[in-house]
Order: sequence, then C-alpha cells, then structure tokens
Amino acid sequence: TNRIFSGVQPTGNLHLGNYLGAIRNWVRLQADYECVFCVVDMHAITIKQDPVELKNSIREVTAAYIACGIDPEKNILFNQSQNHSHAELAWIFNCVARMGWLNRMTQFKEKAGKNRENASTGLFVYPNLMAADILAYRATHVPVGEDQKQHLELTRDIATKFNNDFEAEDFFPLPEPVIMDTAARIMSLRDGTKKMSKSDPSEYSRINVADGPDEIAQKLRKAKTDPEPLPTEAEGLEDRPEAKNLIGIYGALSDLTMEETLKAVGGKQFKDFKTDLTDLAVSVLGPIGDEMKRLMADPAHLDGILCKGGEDARKITQPIMQDVYDIIGFVRPE
Ligand code: TYM
Repeated sequence: TNRIFSGVQPTGNLHLGNYLGAIRNWVRLQADYECVFCVVDMHAITIKQDPVELKNSIREVTAAYIACGIDPEKNILFNQSQNHSHAELAWIFNCVARMGWLNRMTQFKEKAGKNRENASTGLFVYPNLMAADILAYRATHVPVGEDQKQHLELTRDIATKFNNDFEAEDFFPLPEPVIMDTAARIMSLRDGTKKMSKSDPSEYSRINVADGPDEIAQKLRKAKTDPEPLPTEAEGLEDRPEAKNLIGIYGALSDLTMEETLKAVGGKQFKDFKTDLTDLAVSVLGPIGDEMKRLMADPAHLDGILCKGGEDARKITQPIMQDVYDIIGFVRPE
C-alpha cells in the first residue's frame, strides 16, 4: 500500500517556496493516500536554535499546515521528537550509510559553508535522519521541492544497502519523490538564480505565508525584473530568470500551466503584472495568514494535535522497528 511522508523544518517563517513546492501538494494528496506530515524539530537543531523560538516555530509550522488545508483528523500531524523511532532508525542508518555518500551532499556543503570543521556532526548525518523519517513508516511517496531530490536518492541507496546487507529483500520500499513541475523550485525575488530560502538574510528575497497585503505588495514592487515586457512564449525565458520565476509563481498560484500563464499575462509591462501578481498572492495567502493567527492564539490546542499525532505515529513505527531490530540481531522483548 502507498504511504506518504513529508516534513518541514521549524526554522523561521514558512515562505512561498515551502507552500508551492511542498505543502500545497500535500493538501491534494491527503484525499487519496494515507499521509504522515511531520514538523522536523530534530532536523532544526543541526543548526543552533533558540529554545523559546524553536517552540514557537514548531507551533507556527503546525498552524501553517492546518491553515493551508491539512486536516489533522484525517492525517497524522506531529513533531518528529515525539516519536523516538526516528532517532533510533537514524542511528542504524549512521551505520549503513557511507562517509563517501554523505560527502557528496550539496546541501551540507551549502549549509556548512567555508568553516566545515565547525559544523555540527548532526548537520553532516542529517540525510540519514531524513532517510529514517521516511523509512520508519515504510513510506512509498515523498512530496518535496526539487532541492530535496538528492536526499531522496540517498534514502533509496540506504534502503537498498540495508535490504542487501541483511538479506531482507524488499523490507524497506524505495520511496519515490513526488515533485510538481510548476513549483519545484521557487527562486529568490532578489536574484532569479538563487532559490527562495529561509536562510537568505534579505527579507525582500521571499514572501512568507503569513505576510500581510502591504508586505506582499512591497516585496513584489521591489522584486528584481528586467527592462523588457513579459514574453508571450516560453522561448528565451531561460535567459530571464527573474521573469521566469515571477511568471512561474503566478502560474502556480493560479493553477495554470506555463503556456496558459503566458497566454494570460504575456506582453504586459512588469509594473502592471506585479499589481496582478500582488492581488493574486494576497487572495491566496491572506486567508492562510488569518487562519494561522487564529490557531496560534491557542497553543494548547496545537500541542494537543501534535501529541495525538505523535501517538499515532508511534503506533505505525513501533512494529516496523521491532522487525528492524530482529533483522539486525538485537535481542528484544517480544
Ligand atoms: P525544508 O524545511 O528546507 O523545506 C520544506 C519543503 O519546502 C520545499 N522547498 C521549496 N520548494 C520549492 N522552491 C523553493 N525555493 C523551496 N524551498 C523549500 C523543500 O523541498 C521541502 O519539500 N530536509 C527537509 C525536511 C525533511 C523531510 C524529511 C522532507 C526532513 N525529513 C522527510 C521529506 C521527507 C528540509 O530541510 O526541508
């Protein structure tokens, strides 16, 4: 049977890339699949976090999931640290994955920067924890943005090696990434060649899911463009990364293909297009931001949802971990 697993780190504000690249697709998948949606707090601490802010961020991401349309009654919604199976399986994967595999991870190189000696060891083995997140549930499909593709490939390598090493054929499935073409990679508003990211120091580089109409309007007004009007066909867009990104965002927000979007907005001047895009973004994000505020006013309610989700999550992973320990040769109570 198919099972979906995905997660977002509770570090700072959720932005349009997280929404269009990931969460919005989850909302669609929940109708047809058994889904587990996680707030990956253990991933967040691979980089130093302020404890008070971390708690707040965990609740904020939870509120965002719900405000975006994830139904906590129908799906499992919890924060990672409430299910110890993630940490346990990650340790085992630390012993399955090879140094060479992790050395190839581009996200580690980006996040560790020049001072690699000073990066936490957790940041280095982070992809093993991500593999554990997915495989602890024997999830088959993982809806993510394109930046997570390499980690998904590593997850498949780990599953394959575990299955081979322990002669446990097909024990772990090889999970498939589910990446939506139209919003696989939302770029920075300041530089169309850089991905939109929570860690970009410029607030003007991203639109946050909780931004109000004035912030959205201001950020789009300042968004980088080029002097030409919008093209009427996709040809040549590769050389106009900012135009391509804004058209892509418009298309994703209005659920149009690239071709349909160009038909709708092609030939316009950026000034007019930005006004349209602002109205569109406000109409999509406005209700989400309002609902997040409403949910954040009752943290105990959010904590209750996470606690219940944690319980349901453990129910799925505990028998799988029991099998894992047996396969490895650990002595356990029955
Ligand atoms: P994170 O928290 O960086 O991002 C959450 C999701 O948002 C997507 N995303 C984007 N999509 C399109 N354009 C962008 N500019 C953009 N920026 C972010 C990401 O691809 C992701 O889907 N390692 C993961 C979290 C994680 C996870 C997992 C995901 C931990 N365990 C297991 C899936 C399954 C991460 O750091 O995502």
